[in-house]
Amino acid sequence: MDFTFGGKYRLEEKLAIGGCGTVFYGVHTVAGKEVAIKVEPAITKDVYSPLRQESKIYRSLMGGPGVPWIIWSGRQGDYNVMVIDLLGPSLEDLFKMCNRHFSLKTVLLLADQLISRLEFIHTHDLVHRDIKPANFVMGTSRAAHLVNVIDFGLAKKYRDARTGVHIPYHQDTRHGVGTSLFASLNTHLGIECSPRDDLESLSYMLIYFLRGTLPWRKLKAPTVAATWEIIRDAKLAAQGTLTNKLQFFGPDVAEEERVVPDLMVFLNPIPNMHAIRECAIEHVPTIGVVDSNVDPRIVMYPIPANDESTRTAELIAGVLSIAGREGIALKAEVAAARERRMRTQDRARRRAAYSKS
Ligand SMILES: Nc1ncnc2c1ncn2[C@@H]1O[C@H](COP(=O)(O)OP(=O)(O)OP(=O)(O)O)[C@@H](O)[C@H]1O
Ligand SMILES: [Mg+2]
Repeated sequence: MDFTFGGKYRLEEKLAIGGCGTVFYGVHTVAGKEVAIKVEPAITKDVYSPLRQESKIYRSLMGGPGVPWIIWSGRQGDYNVMVIDLLGPSLEDLFKMCNRHFSLKTVLLLADQLISRLEFIHTHDLVHRDIKPANFVMGTSRAAHLVNVIDFGLAKKYRDARTGVHIPYHQDTRHGVGTSLFASLNTHLGIECSPRDDLESLSYMLIYFLRGTLPWRKLKAPTVAATWEIIRDAKLAAQGTLTNKLQFFGPDVAEEERVVPDLMVFLNPIPNMHAIRECAIEHVPTIGVVDSNVDPRIVMYPIPANDESTRTAELIAGVLSIAGREGIALKAEVAAARERRMRTQDRARRRAAYSKS
């Protein structure tokens, strides 16, 4: 077989083996330009090819910030091939290199770029459906600071470009596509994807960067489907138990120790404006990720990695979200409790003064 694709790009060593194909390092035989070459075995001409579909999607997004250029794509011999800009390490690679910890500042800078990448994809009527650190790669040389989004093998149109009509709601009995560690709850439940699912995955990514892990990262079952199920259950359990600071910590801790998060990620900032204001008052960095149909009560609650404190242990035990609206109710509840206590103390003091006299 000829290992030169598109007439001039020579295949060199392997970079990574993915679920949809293998990625190689390659060079232009004359100019010496370095490229990445993604290769998948071609079955027959008419069979659906994820790589062909992927290159079509790349071409529709090319030129956007942080979207790599497709240099050549086509079928050669028994393979479908895509020659693409060679980029730097992925966020997963960098995260491992940094001992699984990014500082809050790094996470905020990344979040800014990551949200823009998703916004760009979503405004082009597509959902990515596999948002995870391995699918974001840094640029090279002068663009080394730029986060690029790759791997459109699972991307899908979610609305009609002309009319803006969303694809119909649909629920399957089995889980959707992507990576279980970062998949949204709706994807676990087999519900048709929409931009909110990419945003939820992005939130899990940010929490993962800050904490160094996710509570369900080590859950494994004998089959892939069973693993998706236990991770779904862990995500569901985390959601239900985490909406009330007072309930979780008890009134003393909630009131006296002021449990203040290091970063809040609001999946839907509009209904959470009060909570965002509270964050601003308490100087908690806040990321608002706009989407229309996310459960407005979900507020992500990331915890710094390498933090062994009791507080973090308590948070890791299950706290991932705290309610926006419930947060306001909680504040009122705490204020009322404080007032009641002060009144009782006052009464006790007066009684003591009266009995002395
Ligand atoms: N243009 C590129 N430049 C540098 N590295 C790349 C490039 N494209 C892909 N890679 C590396 O190869 C890995 C796999 O690529 P990609 O995600 O496109 O393949 P995949 O088969 O869809 O993988 P998976 O199913 O694991 O997500 C990436 O995580 C990244 O590390
Ligand atoms: Mg990938």
